[in-house]
This record gives sequence, C-alpha cells and structure tokens, in this order.
Amino acid sequence: MKDKLKNIVNEFVEAIRATKTEADVFNVKAKYLGKKSDLFTLIADLKNMSTEDKKEYGKLLNNIKKDIEEKINRRIEELNNDKKIIFDDTLPVKRTVGSLHPVTIVAKEVTDILKSMGFIVMDGVEMESDYYNFEALNIPKNHPARDIQDTYYLDNDMLLRTHTSPNQVRAMETYGAPLRVCAPGRCFRNEDLDHSHENTFFQLEGMIIDENVSIGNLIYVMEGLLKAVFKQDVSVRLRPGFFPFTEPSFELDCSCLICGGKGCPTCKGSGWIELCPCGMIHPKVLEMSNIDTKKYNGFAFGLGLTRLAMMKYKIDDIRVLNSGDIRKISEFNIE
Ligand code: FA5
Repeated sequence: MKDKLKNIVNEFVEAIRATKTEADVFNVKAKYLGKKSDLFTLIADLKNMSTEDKKEYGKLLNNIKKDIEEKINRRIEELNNDKKIIFDDTLPVKRTVGSLHPVTIVAKEVTDILKSMGFIVMDGVEMESDYYNFEALNIPKNHPARDIQDTYYLDNDMLLRTHTSPNQVRAMETYGAPLRVCAPGRCFRNEDLDHSHENTFFQLEGMIIDENVSIGNLIYVMEGLLKAVFKQDVSVRLRPGFFPFTEPSFELDCSCLICGGKGCPTCKGSGWIELCPCGMIHPKVLEMSNIDTKKYNGFAFGLGLTRLAMMKYKIDDIRVLNSGDIRKISEFNIE
C-alpha cells in the first residue's frame, strides 16, 4: 500500500510539473483526484479496512489528497501569474525628443548673425493698418503693387500684414537714424498654394540707415549673412527687381538646394529660389518717417525665412511646414 501511494505521488509530481496550461492542470486533477483515480478508490476502500489500518491509512490518504489539491491550486496560480503583463522599469524606454520648428531655428540663427553685425531685433504686429503695410511704404491705394500682395482684410479696417516691411516704418518712427534693425515675423497673403507658396509664411526684415550707405554695403551684408546661415558655398544671383519702397531694387535668388540647380517643382524648374529681395530705401519712405535724407540713406531687405528653412533642411514642399504633421517634419534632419 505504501509503495503504491509513493508511486502515485511521484507520478503526480511529474505530471503537474509538465503542465503548461490550466486545461492541462484540470486533466491532471481529474486523473489523480477524480472518481476513477487510484486515490479515490483507495479512500473508498478504507471502510473495508481494520480499525487500526483505517486510522493509519486514513490519515495518510487524507494528507496525500490535501497535498495534491494544494499543488494543483498553486500550479493554477503560477500559470495565471505568467499571463499577467510584467512591467520592468529597468528596461530602457525609447523616448522621442521634440525639436524647435525649422523656421524657429533659422530665425534664431539669422537674428544671432545680424546681432553680431550690430542689428537690434524688434517685433512687429501681425494685424496691421493699411498705412503701415502699404501707404507709408510708398504703395498708395490703387497702386498695382497691391495686387501681388492681396491679403485678408478684417472687419475693423485692419489687415493681416503681407510682409514684414511695415517694421521699417515702425522702427524709423521709434528709433530714428542712424539705425540697424531686423524684424522676423509671420506674414499672410491670399495666395494660390504650391511647393513654394503658402498663405502663412515667415519673413525677416532688415534695414540699415546711416550716412553714405552704398549698394556695396548691401551686397556685403547679404553675402555675409547667407554664407553664415548655410555654412557652405551657395550660388546666389542678384537681378533687378521692383518695389515701390526701394530704389534701386534687387531680387536676390539662391540656387535651389533641393535639385542642385537642375530644376524641380520647388523652384518651378528654374533652378533658382527667390529668397531675399532688397534695395536702397526710397527717399520718399525715409521722408514720410521723418528721416533727414540730406544726411542719411540706407538699404533694406526682406528675407523669406520659410524658404530659407526649406533650403537649409532640403524640404521640397512648403506646405509640410504648416501641416503640424510630426511624422513628416521629423523626416528632416533637424538638430
Ligand atoms: C516683399 O515682401 C518685400 N517686402 C521684400 C523687401 C523688403 C524688398 C525690403 C525690398 C526691401 P516679396 O513679395 O518678394 O517681397 O517677398 C519676399 C520673400 O518672401 C520672397 O522672396 C520669398 O522668399 C518670401 N515669400 C513671399 N511670398 C511667399 C509665400 N506666399 N510663401 C512663402 N514665402 C513667400
């Protein structure tokens, strides 16, 4: 009898150890505790035993039964624990770190470079009056130059500024001459969108007013600025342009860094990107802002900051920059 019980226990221990699922455990339970089990038969036979054997084996069989039940319950618990998700806080966690927006980065870089050249940085307003956005820049009502800068006109007789040039006037009124000032900011235009045109984009206005300022000074500052921003040799070209508030006016283009100058949708196949128009400030504009034109003259430029960010980070479609699509923006190699 004792040997038989020993075999039952040993066999049970092997069987329970081999279980992998709760169903396995219930099968083992049926085999070792069920009505057809050896243990069940032995317990049922107790009634035929002598009082002495009944006492001895009754206790033994009971203990074995209890032990088997305990082991079965423990195994079920173990299997359930394995199923639970274990949180291991020592595992390295992959964190995605954000970055500043590409336009914010280039704005900071450009203003830092200009500050090192003695420029102060000023902020303008996005909701402008007709006077600052157009009139004071020698663009009277009905001037054709208003056509190419159509914008959003507000109910309160104000408008969303089309360029950062109103800051030329605001700076002259606030600080007078001599003056070196730059003003980055958001601009708005009623524009047909394409790879290089947005209805909301950033420019940076720059202006120097002093005695005997020349076109040579203008080209020198433009070259120095772009070299410092791109940190590489970039081909630029200067061609005649027209702005009512500068005379003479120039268009400064940079060779398209998306296609290497071969021509692509971003540069509309020309190989060049219009980046930074500039010119000598029109005396009429200086006079309207009470600058003594007998003593002072100056130059101004309007750098397309959003386009500069596109060139620097090889972003071939301007619309991505306003999309807020982090998956798309994170494709660009932004430090
Ligand atoms: C102006 O806005 C003039 N105020 C610039 C200026 C300042 C001239 C001082 C002379 C003296 P323009 O419309 O070309 O000019 O815009 C200047 C730059 O802003 C463009 O070269 C381009 O880089 C950028 N830009 C203009 N329109 C858009 C647009 N819709 N989307 C993205 N960038 C634009």
